[in-house]
Amino acid sequence: MKGVILAGGTGSRLEKLTSVLNKHLVAVGEVPMIEYPLNTLVQMGVKDIAVVTGAEHAGTVVQYLTKEHEEIDFTYKIQKKAGGIAEALSLTENIYHGEKIIVILGDNIFEGNFSEEARKFEESKLGAMLFLKKVNIDEAKRFGIAIVEGDKVKYVEEKPAEPKSNLAMTGLYMFDSEIFNKIRQLHRSARGELEITDAIEKYVQEGNCGYGFVDGFWSDAGTHSSRKFAEDYIYKKGKEFWNKKSI
Ligand code: DAU
Repeated sequence: MKGVILAGGTGSRLEKLTSVLNKHLVAVGEVPMIEYPLNTLVQMGVKDIAVVTGAEHAGTVVQYLTKEHEEIDFTYKIQKKAGGIAEALSLTENIYHGEKIIVILGDNIFEGNFSEEARKFEESKLGAMLFLKKVNIDEAKRFGIAIVEGDKVKYVEEKPAEPKSNLAMTGLYMFDSEIFNKIRQLHRSARGELEITDAIEKYVQEGNCGYGFVDGFWSDAGTHSSRKFAEDYIYKKGKEFWNKKSI
């Protein structure tokens, strides 16, 4: 399958680290943040990767990936304004027409290897697949959440004030090519964004959204506290974390 790293947005929650640096090049441990989602895709067997980045400091993202990852075939798209995750993904439609794709948020850090899930999704008739992680019910308020029944996702909600579930949607998704039609039908949310959760809800309504659980470590690194949380874990694990990675 082909992969997409969504690395647009403004990085405002990491000010002042993002004042002159693209959010996804901010260090987490000894490497820039983008290395982690990149590595997750590579471990899933992906060799062609589209990177969507914001216009600000876009050149440095291209420069960094070109210098450090000659082995990967990157295609770049610029998201002119931070109009949401679904909007960023829609920019890749003309690259991966008709194919199943793996999408990862550029600030998400996973310890696990999901190559088996990728293989199964590729062979399945599922339209979408989510990766869920149990969190505290209070923490759930800052994520998208999901309710599952049997082997399907039955309900999703973005950043609920009163979470009905403690299963957070991580920023790793697999979709069939229908995702782009679903994004076209979306309206902007209260925060002015095209929300990936709204596109996922359409698969849920069709009974076509599967899920897997994330057993190992997962965190985003998009705020000062979550970046520190991820970094502390990576340093604590030391070689054990790095040995699982090809960074
Ligand atoms: O981390 C998992 C969470 O990520 C999910 O549980 C939520 O359902 C999902 O909406 C998302 O929530 P956040 O509010 O944390 O997403 P954030 O706006 O921080 O964006 C995360 C990454 O997505 C960012 O590092 C780059 C990419 N992005 C985001 C926006 C808003 C874009 O490429 N373009 C954008 O316009």
